[in-house]
Amino acid sequence: MTLSFTRAAALAVACSVSLVGGTLLASCSSGGASKADQQPAPVVLEVGEGFSNPIGYYESTPRFSWQLASDGAGHYQSAYQIQVAASAEGLDRETLWDSGKVVSAQTSWIRYGGAPFDSRQQAVWRVRTWDENGQMSRWSEVQSIELGLLSNDDWQGQWIGHPDTELSQQPSVQVLATPQYLRTEFALESAIKKARLYITAKGLFKPFINGQQVAPDDVMTPGWTPYDERIETLTYDVTSLLKTGDNVLAASLAGGWYSGRVADLMALDHQLPPRLLAQLEVTFSNGERQIIGSDASWKASQQGPIQFASTYDGERYEQRLEMAGWSDSNFDDSDWQQAVVEPILPTIKLAPKRHAPIRITQAIPAIEVWQPSEGVAVFDLGQNMVGVPRLQIPVRADQQVTIRYAEALHKGEFYTDNYRSAKVTDHYIPSVTGTADYTPTFTYRGFRYVEISGFDASQKPSQEWVTGLVQHSDFEIRASFESSHSKLNKLADNIVWGLRGNFYDIPLDCPQRDERLGWTGDAQVFVTPSMYMADVYGFWSAWLQSVREEQGDDGKIPLYIPFVEWINFASSGWGDAVTIIPWQLYQLTGDDTILRDNYAMMKGWLDYHQSQMKDDRSTMMTFGDWLQPYPVAEGKKANRGDTEFDLISTAFYAHSLQLTINAAEVLGYQQDIAPMKQTLSKLKGLVRNTFYDQELKPKTGVETQTSYLLPLAFDLFNPAVQEVAFAHLLEQLAKADNHLRTGFLGTPLLIQVLHERGRDDLVYDLLFKESYPSWFYSVNNGATTTWERWNSYTLKDGFNPQGMNSLNHYAYGTVSRYFYEGILGIQPLQPGFKEILIAPKFGQQLDQASGDYQTPHGDVAVSWQRTGRAVELSVTVPKNTQATIELPQLQRTSLQVNGEAVVNENQLQGLKPGTYRVVGQLQPEQFLSN
Ligand code: BGC
Repeated sequence: MTLSFTRAAALAVACSVSLVGGTLLASCSSGGASKADQQPAPVVLEVGEGFSNPIGYYESTPRFSWQLASDGAGHYQSAYQIQVAASAEGLDRETLWDSGKVVSAQTSWIRYGGAPFDSRQQAVWRVRTWDENGQMSRWSEVQSIELGLLSNDDWQGQWIGHPDTELSQQPSVQVLATPQYLRTEFALESAIKKARLYITAKGLFKPFINGQQVAPDDVMTPGWTPYDERIETLTYDVTSLLKTGDNVLAASLAGGWYSGRVADLMALDHQLPPRLLAQLEVTFSNGERQIIGSDASWKASQQGPIQFASTYDGERYEQRLEMAGWSDSNFDDSDWQQAVVEPILPTIKLAPKRHAPIRITQAIPAIEVWQPSEGVAVFDLGQNMVGVPRLQIPVRADQQVTIRYAEALHKGEFYTDNYRSAKVTDHYIPSVTGTADYTPTFTYRGFRYVEISGFDASQKPSQEWVTGLVQHSDFEIRASFESSHSKLNKLADNIVWGLRGNFYDIPLDCPQRDERLGWTGDAQVFVTPSMYMADVYGFWSAWLQSVREEQGDDGKIPLYIPFVEWINFASSGWGDAVTIIPWQLYQLTGDDTILRDNYAMMKGWLDYHQSQMKDDRSTMMTFGDWLQPYPVAEGKKANRGDTEFDLISTAFYAHSLQLTINAAEVLGYQQDIAPMKQTLSKLKGLVRNTFYDQELKPKTGVETQTSYLLPLAFDLFNPAVQEVAFAHLLEQLAKADNHLRTGFLGTPLLIQVLHERGRDDLVYDLLFKESYPSWFYSVNNGATTTWERWNSYTLKDGFNPQGMNSLNHYAYGTVSRYFYEGILGIQPLQPGFKEILIAPKFGQQLDQASGDYQTPHGDVAVSWQRTGRAVELSVTVPKNTQATIELPQLQRTSLQVNGEAVVNENQLQGLKPGTYRVVGQLQPEQFLSN
């Protein structure tokens, strides 16, 4: 829709129409908008991908976003004005940028138009809007933004570390794996106005000032990026921790992802020396500044209590080595060594962290404890989770406490096979008899059960001894889908736990075994559902930067990002994450920055695809339809499923081409479009003729559900041929008694294709299946997360004997997209939900469903109840959007909107923001087919 606005309109009679409690209200006013008439100010003011009032921001030309207040009289924005200034007072006097009144309905991702911000720059901003009637809003509340250090030149500090870890000393693995403690003392002579700590590590750090933790909830910082390209830096406001007089800045430091191994590559484990980089900048009330950087004057020790730390293997803590007051003044560090320094290389970019760090977000109490044998206690947290425990346990001096973990038990037996080479064991060695209070610092893992041995056996184990500290990248989890079906709710909850645990600075395949890697294929099947469930735009767009950095000159995308040499080839369906993820993020946010930033990478990936073409097919390697159930193939090959590999690779090439064409169209890169379209049309012909015979059956290889899903989902055939493919798919489904036979690649496509072709009855059928393979199969067998395999565990037979058997893999959680887009029926009709489709699908398995999604414009909420064939639906459409409600299953004559009958209408189009209630009767045949 187009909205126009002229200044004159503001002075004319202005009317606004609003829908309140199902009643249309009209209010009119004449004359100019006086202060009293002003509409409520915009709300939810954010910069970039969802930051409010950030400190240490990463973009020198930030993007601004807001939402219209839900209680404003108008429904649409016709214009906006943004002002940016150095201080709140400056907003009225001297701005850094004033957009002026811009006639536009856009409320998100508006790029700052002033001179780019510098490192450390602080600014404030505000926005006001005009509605469709020319009514002006009040100015928003003033927001702040402060940048981090944008350039390597901003750093005066140097990388520092313990001298024993210098590679020239040929340190042992043990020395490199021993955490370091670093400290410096300094005096501040004047009254302190403001202080910022800029800090990072090659490895992991925990900062302290004057004996206090700078960020108690932040863990595993700075996170994981391609460390030889870019290391993220954190910015902390530490004004309140410092004092005039003597101060101490300190940090503990461990190897983390920087020096720990990948998989079972023991030769790579703890080969690199962890290093710390810190810069404390203090501004005094008198205007002077003082900078304390990490340098050779710092002191270093490896004689602290944490004697070993590894992300996979665990931690060793020795109480006798505790150094009371080590991060405070008046500590005797005379037996500490002088730190060694390494220069900051210009080739490794230091850049502000562009999404929230991992934090402890929740504490889970143990729900049960028992003693399987003398001196051993097992605690059940009731939930497979990711993080570490807090232990408060009775100990005896010098008696080692060993803490083991498991994601699951079978008949009481601890299951650790699926950790593979990851030891996932902590050791606590007390020096004093009493209660130990211990939380591991530089490690994490997926677990539900904690086994403790070596505690003071004279005490009876009690649930209070163990609490699970849940860690994940600190975004807001918004998942709100809820229904009348308890198993479906449990499944939804399990999927959210899979999201929580595996969004661990990067999107992990799993959080427990010796992988925990940013596998691209898993990421592409889960990106969209994750966006419906959590505020993860920043998380994804940050990871995509790492993906760009890891792309080869030939366009190759490694299998997991960040990449460390372990498995080194490219796979179709995995590398295609680089086209799928940006395109999906654009659909949900409407932010074309995500396409612009990644477009070159998308094109590069197409080049790589092209390089793998031989004659009539792509020969790109692929993991195939990974973990498809009932494979015909045997042995290790079975993991890759039966769908012809070259078909998968050629089809994904075509799909990536289509998405890159879409991106070029959005970005206006006209010259790229025609050649890409040509290649695409050629590829479509190749897919048809190379892989399918006259009857459209696979020429070679096995006929699978996925062999039809690929062309259907990627729109590779003309409509008539697609019909045939769909008929074949339905035959395949029927042959499997309407069970899925799909792995990682096929599963999301199966739901998509059935939904797009109006066979939601079959999606419901799949979703509510109890028998193997199905989602409820895992729920029925006690799952509290999503499993890697459809049959990772059964209550009867125990664990799948394969070592590769994660009980926390989000890939099959892809089905949760359907909760929002299918059952609730919320979909963007335009990128960023400027236009919204509400097309809920009803099934006899459900009496009720509800949920909402936070679009860039505000909340869209859907709730429906069904009693027999009678359906009652309520929908909230956010401001500045319009909606279409589509209910083909409802009998036309009985539709009601806001209490009034709407005859011959099952498409409610052009709905304005407001709340709607629709009542109708399901058509008998429609309902029975479910
Ligand atoms: C990971 C997967 C990944 C796969 C590649 C596995 O080990 O856990 O999720 O996508 O390898 O096929």
